[in-house]
Amino acid sequence: MVVSLKGRDLLCLQDYTPEEIWTILETAKMLKIWQKIGKPHRLLEGKTLAMIFQKPSTRTRVSFEVAMAHLGGHALYLNAQDLQLRRGETIADTARVLSRYVDAIMARVYDHKDVEDLAKYASVPVINGLSDFSHPCQALADYMTIWEKKGTIKGVKVVYVGDGNNVAHSLMIAGTKLGADVVVATPEGYEPDEKVIKWAEQNAAESGGSFELLHDPVKAVKDADVIYTDVWASMGQEAEAEERRKIFRPFQVNKDLVKHAKPDYMFMHCLPAHRGEEVTDDVIDSPNSVVWDEAENRLHAQKAVLALLLGGVKTGF
Ligand code: CP
Ligand code: NVA
Repeated sequence: MVVSLKGRDLLCLQDYTPEEIWTILETAKMLKIWQKIGKPHRLLEGKTLAMIFQKPSTRTRVSFEVAMAHLGGHALYLNAQDLQLRRGETIADTARVLSRYVDAIMARVYDHKDVEDLAKYASVPVINGLSDFSHPCQALADYMTIWEKKGTIKGVKVVYVGDGNNVAHSLMIAGTKLGADVVVATPEGYEPDEKVIKWAEQNAAESGGSFELLHDPVKAVKDADVIYTDVWASMGQEAEAEERRKIFRPFQVNKDLVKHAKPDYMFMHCLPAHRGEEVTDDVIDSPNSVVWDEAENRLHAQKAVLALLLGGVKTGF
């Protein structure tokens, strides 16, 4: 596939064509093989990545830092609280200054507009490492995992059960672009953003996939190939956690719910999991669960993103 992503930002996968997403997935697959066979892939020798975090992280922080090390570059962890941002320096000025030091910026923010502003004022690629609106790096690892395990993405029934949040948005966007049959089941009032629903419908019409929004988790997971869930209260929603626990209880992914899926269904979760809330131990620890492979694939998918956006590989493999 001949698609160059050099110099691009990655804020939301709706900005990427199916071919561009496939370029990332194919590059990720190759880089994973190279790592497994011990083939060096120092495609970003001497390059640097600034990683700004307004929120906590385990997977995003570690996988990006390790990715840069494997690629021969270096990553800097920057807690937003320790930057002059805390004392009122603007996002725009921060973006302008960081662009003079580093080759790319990854940011985890509350307000999606912050990552958009970073991208607007930075002269280097900006990667969204999670905002309140989307989590594109997660969805890349998710569909890499589905492709690896199911051999295809087209026609795979991917059912997301829970809150219509950032993770749900990216799963919907990427899945419908790649031709999956995406179903989302949320409680009333917790649906995904209207704009994302429209995008998912449009994407599905173009790719031959489908999108459906339901409020009945049992109906949603019928014959599912993938059941996906995420926490009921995302970072920043801690004050609503107790109320949400009551509202989301019927949406728990447990032994009774997964009985309605295909026998070889896969359980997926972006992690961290709140065991006993959105998923029970007997599901997340079952042989159907692929959550550790999914977490590992964050590393490979992000290596591909970095290598492509920073020009370490020209057009994918
Ligand atoms: N899934 C994910 O982004 O995990 P972290 O919050 O640990 O980075
Ligand atoms: N929806 C969760 C995902 C964490 C990776 C959050 O935003 O907190």
